[in-house]
Amino acid sequence: MRVLVTGGAGYIGSFLVRWLLAQGHTVRVLDNLSTGRREAIPDVPVDVFDVRDSDAVSAITRNFAPEAIIHLAGVKSSAESVQRPHVYYDINVTGTAVLLRAAVLHGVERFVFSSSCAVYGSPQVCPVDERTAPRPQSPYGDTKLACERMLDWHARVSGMRFASLRYFNVAGAAEDGSLGQFTGPETVQLVPLAIKAALGGKPLQIFGGDYPTKDGTAVRDYIHVEDLAAAHVRVLERLDTSEVSGVYNLGTGQPASVQEIVTAVEEAAGRPVPHTMTCRRAGDPAVSWADAAQARQVFDWAPKRDLRDIVSSSWLWHTSSARSNG
Ligand SMILES: NC(=O)c1ccc[n+]([C@@H]2O[C@H](COP(=O)([O-])OP(=O)(O)OC[C@H]3O[C@@H](n4cnc5c(N)ncnc54)[C@H](O)[C@@H]3O)[C@@H](O)[C@H]2O)c1
Repeated sequence: MRVLVTGGAGYIGSFLVRWLLAQGHTVRVLDNLSTGRREAIPDVPVDVFDVRDSDAVSAITRNFAPEAIIHLAGVKSSAESVQRPHVYYDINVTGTAVLLRAAVLHGVERFVFSSSCAVYGSPQVCPVDERTAPRPQSPYGDTKLACERMLDWHARVSGMRFASLRYFNVAGAAEDGSLGQFTGPETVQLVPLAIKAALGGKPLQIFGGDYPTKDGTAVRDYIHVEDLAAAHVRVLERLDTSEVSGVYNLGTGQPASVQEIVTAVEEAAGRPVPHTMTCRRAGDPAVSWADAAQARQVFDWAPKRDLRDIVSSSWLWHTSSARSNG
């Protein structure tokens, strides 16, 4: 298939591009390189444009004539979105609207969208499945929900098959240390922050030690980026009938607490992770983990890697001296 990947130079996108190429697909990337890195995807053409640039998006879609679009381009911090909601609505919602218009206009048959567990807000019951009513607690989560709905409506008029994939917490790196997440000082991801603390950086700040969980710290569902990328390839290939169109959770269904991540990093590093315990952050759920049975069943996909793989691959990536990794 010819596949247009927006945001393909980013963390998840660069893994996805590798998986698509390995399966023999022809890939083109549209990315403004605001956080993505050209060098992460050396083997594919990259159109450096903003996804909100409707002329460019339309021309690329017309000329490349993709059979599928996978849309990852966007901004992704719940905390930042509370401070800068206009930026989030503009990039995420306008960008998706522009892309959908081009997709419908040029007859794209399959569309996969990067959604997020942030659409659920603080789930009352875990594991959370797709029937749970979405209640986003940040502009970020709200933009993802708005995009899911736009996609659904566009698919109805065009017959395009689609999947909105609600990722839980994506983490990890390539097993051989060849690819990972480039993290600058602004990163909010737990695993890189814990590794940086173990390597002598700023002590890790743990937000909340008094949650009603087994060790008092917040519980999440960490999915390895390789498993997530593999899921996209499987979804794409199975989107050959509109019966499978819909919304799917992508997680492991294995809850892990912040304290468990810290312990796993300490084991991989063979040294302590200096940390401080501070108060809870507004809007952070105590627990959030996925029921991903739907994706397993419909796409015959299952994650193959666990927390240990996430931490060991991340450790290898972040400690590799040959890399300027923020
Ligand atoms: N990382 C996670 O844990 C996670 C969880 C849930 C959902 N997601 C979603 O997955 C997608 C990819 O996330 P990621 O972790 O790879 O982030 P990332 O920041 O590494 O990748 C985003 C990519 O989009 C590009 N981009 C941003 N704004 C753009 C614009 N206006 N026009 C064109 N390109 C633009 C960036 O340059 C980058 O290459 C995002 O949509 C994010 O919301 C990520």
